[in-house]
Amino acid sequence: MPNAKIAGMGKYVPERIITNHDLETMMDTSDAWIRERTGIHERRWVEPGRETAATMGVAAARNALKQAGMNEQDVDFIIFATLSPEYTFPGSGCLLGDELGLNGVGALDIRTQCTGFVYALSIADQFIKSGMYKTILVVGGEVQSTALNVSTEGRDVAVIFGDGAGATVLTATEEEGRGILTSNLHADGKYARQLYCEDPGSRGDKRVSHEMIDNGTIYPYMNGRYVFKHAVTRFPEAIMETLAATGYTKDDIDLIVPHQANKRITEAVQQRLDVPSEKVFSNIHKYGNTTAASIPIALTEALEEGRIKAGDLVCTVAFGSGFTWGANLIRF
Ligand code: UT7
Repeated sequence: MPNAKIAGMGKYVPERIITNHDLETMMDTSDAWIRERTGIHERRWVEPGRETAATMGVAAARNALKQAGMNEQDVDFIIFATLSPEYTFPGSGCLLGDELGLNGVGALDIRTQCTGFVYALSIADQFIKSGMYKTILVVGGEVQSTALNVSTEGRDVAVIFGDGAGATVLTATEEEGRGILTSNLHADGKYARQLYCEDPGSRGDKRVSHEMIDNGTIYPYMNGRYVFKHAVTRFPEAIMETLAATGYTKDDIDLIVPHQANKRITEAVQQRLDVPSEKVFSNIHKYGNTTAASIPIALTEALEEGRIKAGDLVCTVAFGSGFTWGANLIRF
């Protein structure tokens, strides 16, 4: 049975930098509050109408293919994780495939929010292990900025999120013990309404109405403290589950690459697991929370910075809306 190894990683973030001071001009917030409560200094926002989840995904995918020494024609299947597709349907994966000239190649959108990339890697791994596909492009791309309530009313959510995309090329290898070693995927819909976007949706008699706009139900809602409390429990649980499944110990892990939700969550996870801070990657200060894009962006930068080397054991882990959570353990 082949294993699925990471052959290349790439990222794309918009050029437009929005600092905490920029947000101070839009709402009642402060650079000090945002830094202290989230660790974020700045984030990237798209040029609306010019950049989308798929266009950013295409740029990230081209970088990943280049790093892998491959080209578009090597891709057998596309998996795209996003909660911010261009259209209600079809998904961003179809648009990305078209832009890359992969017409006819299967494309699957994953909507498990902040856990999207962890789910996507696991699904790609199963397709490769089963022999159905040899090389899969896995992309996470998000445009959050245009969906935020950038007024004081929406400040708890608006200051956190950013835009961007990351991609990986997963390919079959016969090397034992290389690539994705294990994944765990979880969800509990009991908590669906603790972090969600209520409208537009298919529940009522109308998809879109003026009331939805007037009542602000078109904006993401988050019960921040509640989400925080669950996150700091679920991150370590999912990491420990990968170790129990493989027999490794936490000391064997070279780098944990968590979804970048909040610097304080990452620090709490590091303390709970009792691992050195240099073993937990963080770049939230530059990009904020980019949902399904945060892990592939972080993996790309960890490789660029030499924080991940060939042979390293890396744990990717996420928690988010759903609630959903999970982890992958990867031998690079
Ligand atoms: O991606 C995965 C899912 N998301 C997460 O994991 C995020 C989880 N939650 C969080 O990161 C944090 O809960 C937040 C960053 C969202 C909020 O931090 P907090 O320390 O939990 O603050 P809080 O919501 O308890 O609010 C504390 C105070 C409140 O004022 P009062 O009631 O104490 O007067 C808020 O109104 O801070 C106020 N506040 C703000 N002040 C300035 C909330 N947002 C802001 C803001 N600027 N942007």
